[in-house]
Amino acid sequence: MRARARVSSTEDSTMGYETVYARSMQDPASFWAEAAELIDWDQPWEKVLDDANPPFYRWFAGGMLNTCYNAVDRHVAAGRGDQPAIIYDSPVTDTKTRITYSELQDQVARCAGALQALGVSKGDRVIVYMPMVPEAVIAMLGCARIGAIHSVVFGGFSARELATRIDDAKPKVMIAGSCGIEPNRVVHYKPLLDSAIELAEHQPEHCIILQRPQEPGSLIAGRDLGWVEALREATPAPCLSVAATDPLYILYTSGTTGQPKGVVRDHGGHAVAMAWSMENVYNVKPGEVFWAASDVGWVVGHSYIVYAPLLTGCTTLLYEGKPVGTPDAGAFWRVIAEHEVSVLFTAPTAFRAIKRDDPRAEHLGRYDLRSLRALFLAGERCDPDTLNWAETILGLPVIDHWWQTETGWAIAANCLGIEPLPIKPGSPTRPVPGYGVEILDEDGIAVKAGEIGRIMIRLPLPPGCLVTLWGHDERFVQSYLAAQPGYYLTGDAGYLDEDGYVFVMSRIDDIINVAGHRLSTGAMEGVLASHPDVAECAVIGAHDQLKGELPVGLVVLKAGVSRDDGSIIKDLVALVRDQIGPVAAFKTVAIVERLPKTRSGKILRGTMKSIADGKDYRMPATIDDPAILEEIRTALTTIGYAKPL
Ligand code: COA
Ligand code: AMP
Repeated sequence: MRARARVSSTEDSTMGYETVYARSMQDPASFWAEAAELIDWDQPWEKVLDDANPPFYRWFAGGMLNTCYNAVDRHVAAGRGDQPAIIYDSPVTDTKTRITYSELQDQVARCAGALQALGVSKGDRVIVYMPMVPEAVIAMLGCARIGAIHSVVFGGFSARELATRIDDAKPKVMIAGSCGIEPNRVVHYKPLLDSAIELAEHQPEHCIILQRPQEPGSLIAGRDLGWVEALREATPAPCLSVAATDPLYILYTSGTTGQPKGVVRDHGGHAVAMAWSMENVYNVKPGEVFWAASDVGWVVGHSYIVYAPLLTGCTTLLYEGKPVGTPDAGAFWRVIAEHEVSVLFTAPTAFRAIKRDDPRAEHLGRYDLRSLRALFLAGERCDPDTLNWAETILGLPVIDHWWQTETGWAIAANCLGIEPLPIKPGSPTRPVPGYGVEILDEDGIAVKAGEIGRIMIRLPLPPGCLVTLWGHDERFVQSYLAAQPGYYLTGDAGYLDEDGYVFVMSRIDDIINVAGHRLSTGAMEGVLASHPDVAECAVIGAHDQLKGELPVGLVVLKAGVSRDDGSIIKDLVALVRDQIGPVAAFKTVAIVERLPKTRSGKILRGTMKSIADGKDYRMPATIDDPAILEEIRTALTTIGYAKPL
């Protein structure tokens, strides 16, 4: 029998931020036990917080539930069967459809049944490689229904990146679309899938292919089967009760090496955090339309296209299009007006793109945006210009909030469902309840308000955050928990001001943010270095008006190599596109004679970034030869950088 574990109301909306935050810090166990009432449990937990094995903490140990039941079936049982669960709006295919909760239940149960028929059971991995179509959501929930672990891979990655993920996750089955549709081209998902499987050592047993009319794929007999046929013939599968601590999904994200990190999220803590955040961070109620304009391949898509809105009984909007060009800069306003969206969540880059094409927001006049209450932005630092512009044209709260693939939900935000706080442009406001945010220096000492340091989170992390890296507990500890015992290292640098507002300024590693997409410059350097003519290289994230940052390569050729016709640059650009994918947006390379280094041989990437961005920099005390910096400036100038911002 499915029942709420304990019954009492979530009282957070009647208390101010300070009180709620203090409660979450003083007694996390009772705080999250109360939040867990938003979820239906098959069996209550034995321990809210299992801290027997630090630095590994587990939430709701002993509890049993099914995430898919909570996201779909319980809403049908509660009378929401006829409410749209998903609105699919696809300007690139000229399609608009609605899927009710009852229809979703049927489709998900069939998908789960089709997976079972292929031998997939609890704990098996399924890679989902799909564009922004409802079947992607159905595939994810289908896995969750039977306790299989999904790993969604973003379509903008190359076959090689997909192969790396296949070898790490070792999926029994893959579910893919035959193609994706970008405004300027068709993305050949099926051929990419086939070559990834060829490149991978691990071989999935079967592939279920959603044949899209724009480019159906050719099926390999015995291995591949069509989505429609597979679901039609499937016996609908019931929800399997799993442990709260069992893994729900793996999501790969850029690490500081070419090897991506497989972030693992569990069932129980994740469901609780998702449901709690919908109410308390976004202030969204069951039945409302929530739109996260992202992609299911990113963490924003996992959390706020799929799980959080559906766990809450909202209607989620799945948009297969762009903010501009599909067909114009009024696309977002059309979608909001047509589907009565209550809250929109996207990356600042989307608003920069709209502003670039329609600076006076003239398209807005054509639509009625009365349904919209707030805009949330995340994925990259939100520049105050973009924030102010969005606020001015919409006349609504624009909330910058900060989070990462690893946390799965906001670390700092203006929690509209608790108490809206004054906005300070440039800051994602205060830490979200559950997150003990501190700024520490290199020695682990807390710095004063206003001073920049490493942004750390005191352990335990709240429910919903990563529990480990898939198959690599040791790497999890090394990457995030070893820098400062008792803390999680976010990888971001920033400060807290005297009012406790968080300011996130930069990364302390090689991660850059390109159009809200997280990429590793180290991985790009690895690809460039593999070219036979390259002796040495560095990739930096240079400031870009639209995308926030863009990767720029600085390459030293091997002695004797001379290719003045620019063909080497074309080769290098093509190589990164082929090895990492178009999403890297790697298009610019400067050939230089040498790279600036410290006397111990460390390449001075930060100094080169300052030069590229036209910013002042301090001459590094340990630089080997200061004259190189002028050479770098000249080279960057010839490719359009190194001018004052
Ligand atoms: N599948 C395959 N290729 C994809 C893709 C996908 N799902 N998404 C993007 N790409 C490709 C693009 O077609 C482009 O290829 P190109 O070099 O052939 O033109 C390349 O990857 C770079 O894409 P992107 O950085 O997104 O640039 P863009 O010029 O296509 O669009 C924006 C720029 C700002 C309009 C777009 O990035 C955007 O809407 N961003 C905001 C929302 C968002 O995605 N947020 C992410 C996390 S919240
Ligand atoms: P991702 O894992 O792709 O979500 O990227 C996470 C990283 O993006 C963070 O560690 C930050 O560096 C950056 N980021 C995300 N949101 C914000 C924000 N609101 N402000 C500043 N940086 C952000």
